[in-house]
Amino acid sequence: MSAAGVSGSAGSDGSVAVPVIAIDGPTASGKGTIAARVAAHFGFHYLDSGAIYRIAALAAMRAGADISDESAVAGVAQRLAVVFAGEQVLLDGQDVAADIRQEAIGNAASRIAVFPLVRQALLERQRAFAQPPGLVADGRDMASVVFPGAQLKVFLTASAQERAQRRFKQLLEKGISVKFEDLLADLQARDARDTQRAVAPLKPVADSWVLDSSSLDIATVVSAIVQRFEALRG
Ligand code: C5P
Repeated sequence: MSAAGVSGSAGSDGSVAVPVIAIDGPTASGKGTIAARVAAHFGFHYLDSGAIYRIAALAAMRAGADISDESAVAGVAQRLAVVFAGEQVLLDGQDVAADIRQEAIGNAASRIAVFPLVRQALLERQRAFAQPPGLVADGRDMASVVFPGAQLKVFLTASAQERAQRRFKQLLEKGISVKFEDLLADLQARDARDTQRAVAPLKPVADSWVLDSSSLDIATVVSAIVQRFEALRG
């Protein structure tokens, strides 16, 4: 599955020596599931950059840092001792995979993500995932900041109503009951923070391929991305 003639990892300017597929989009757009499946299809590595922000938020909270204090959180982000081992996410040796999925941690992640020093502290950590044979990276600024040299840049979106419905269903299936209106309001607040922040706001770049998945199922989106990348690789 590896592309011919590629080796090495990302340069400090974000240029990539391995094929990268960047998938950006708002909360609950399905990009995590889709990115993981595209990665599995090509045998590529997978970066869930939101998990990195979530881990940083959790670590800051556990360290007793004030999450509105940019330099305190950036200090924690710089020193993060995290290891991804299959399904496990080890923070200081302890599996936090379930903890970082909590809504409260997602919210805290989106609060610390507005800070330039925090984003800077997490940048190289994300670029280090660009290893042969290739990478599928999902997030908000994969195409615009972290991997501007990505071969394929997908901007995956869906209406807020549709995304809230999907999240609502997922939570119900897990036996977690929430009010739909609260979920929708929370998602809209997170969208507003992500799209309106000064640094690395969520938005398509000039060469993004914008895909609205409101009326598409996951398999259809995955195969559309796979086909597009195959066409690009020739
Ligand atoms: O994607 P996920 O919901 O796990 O991300 C959690 C939060 O981290 C997002 O709401 C967003 O504010 C932030 N984030 C970011 N840049 C990324 C990935 C996530 O700002 N590349």
